Amino acid sequence: MEAFSSSQRHLYYVGDPLTLEVRSLMDARGWTVRNSELGRDLESFSSTPSGGLLDFSSRHIQSNLRQAETLLSIKTIGWVALLTPAQLDNETIRRLVRDFCFDYVTLPASGERILNALGHAYGIAALHDGGASGGVVGATLGNVHAQASSHAEGEMIGSCDAMLALFRAIRKVAITDAPVFISGESGTGKELTAAAIHQHSTRRDQPFVAINCGAIPTHLLQSELFGYERGAFTGANQRKIGRVEAANGGTLFLDEIGDLPLESQASLLRFLQERKVERLGGHGSTPVDVRIISATHVDMQTAMAESRFRADLYHRLCVLQIDEPPLRARGKDIELLAKHMLDRFKKDAHRPLRGFAPDAVAALHNYSWPGNVRELINRVRRAIVMAEGRLIGAHDLELGEFAEPAPTSLAQAREAGERQAIEMALLRNRGRLGEAAKELGVSRVTLYRILSAYSMRDATTSPGVDVE
Ligand SMILES: Nc1ncnc2c1ncn2[C@@H]1O[C@H](COP(=O)(O)OP(=O)(O)OP(=O)(O)O)[C@@H](O)[C@H]1O
Ligand SMILES: [Mg+2]
Repeated sequence: MEAFSSSQRHLYYVGDPLTLEVRSLMDARGWTVRNSELGRDLESFSSTPSGGLLDFSSRHIQSNLRQAETLLSIKTIGWVALLTPAQLDNETIRRLVRDFCFDYVTLPASGERILNALGHAYGIAALHDGGASGGVVGATLGNVHAQASSHAEGEMIGSCDAMLALFRAIRKVAITDAPVFISGESGTGKELTAAAIHQHSTRRDQPFVAINCGAIPTHLLQSELFGYERGAFTGANQRKIGRVEAANGGTLFLDEIGDLPLESQASLLRFLQERKVERLGGHGSTPVDVRIISATHVDMQTAMAESRFRADLYHRLCVLQIDEPPLRARGKDIELLAKHMLDRFKKDAHRPLRGFAPDAVAALHNYSWPGNVRELINRVRRAIVMAEGRLIGAHDLELGEFAEPAPTSLAQAREAGERQAIEMALLRNRGRLGEAAKELGVSRVTLYRILSAYSMRDATTSPGVDVE
């Protein structure tokens, strides 16, 4: 068992009551939320970096914008604004957002979107404090721990071969400065991996700045990335440092790089070639020293084939590649993660919970986990609240239909067993056919024939963890 760990983050929230979805996501990501009111609490606002969420759609805030400004001007808080689309036309609100907030989200918005913005705002606020911070963004991931007992948010848990290979790869790539490209399905832990690489690198005391390339509106992306000088455009009444420059000395994490618009791809490529940023409206350029990590769940080969992503940029980003294993290929780790999440969130239960019933354990293994670890966390958290007995059952996880394997013929059972063994062998051997065949005790030709018969030939192209 290995784990990387990090600490709690504080969040000030000002607005109408949050939805349950957002609240539980905040808990899941390790935010300690403090509901605050305009005009009160000011002296007690923390002097350590925190996240802040201000909901301009709340009537109370709309009628007290002056007090909102006082609050927003607290420098240790990385603010994110929630706005209705109509409020984007309100000059006062636009000014407050522009001058004081790191990001804004137009409503309605998913909890994910809000939480991602908050993580990034917090990371930037932490930079003003002169050091990296806890959590996924600006993470202070500790050294590798041997025990599962004291896990907090931000740890990576895993004991299967694929995860141990991932941990080895993290340590190896961490000691170089070469760009790392992390691919993997949604919710597999790409962001955690990026933070862990930073934390194990010599840059660990410098900033870790994450940019969600898909979440920033196209027209704001250039100024977000590279910053602007005072007077660069109407409303630019002070110089703003871009996120690339903010990461100077540290690591720049380009998340969802596959969603970066073509226009910004050109600017990013220029930056990677020259290692200098030119702020919008600026005259000179500033050298910036950053280590680049990028991640995406997009299939980049297809994106390049369809001319949605520049091949020259991809090859600069993808010098070292790490592929996150999907949860369904992690064997016993599925149970390990479920137990860990139960431990972490069981305080939300109405009564003491002792663990998972056998039908739940079976369902955990039979289900294919399209949403990976994130989905597992959500299902376990829901089950903790819904469970009526002392044990969590398959139906509490809403996986009742996966509790029992469907009746199978011997031939079907043999095929399922062979498929699973082959999948695991290919995963362990990073898609290399010869080595997987050797491990399975068959010739390369036989393995190839079986792969063709089961329409599994795609599995051999999976790059796996490509760093040894
Ligand atoms: N090995 C792990 N151990 C513990 N928690 C994990 C692990 N992997 C992922 N998680 C948790 O699962 C959630 C999703 O992880 P993360 O955000 O890093 O995934 P992602 O690959 O970046 O997803 P997406 O593609 O949707 O952005 C987070 O809450 C993270 O803390
Ligand atoms: Mg992510």
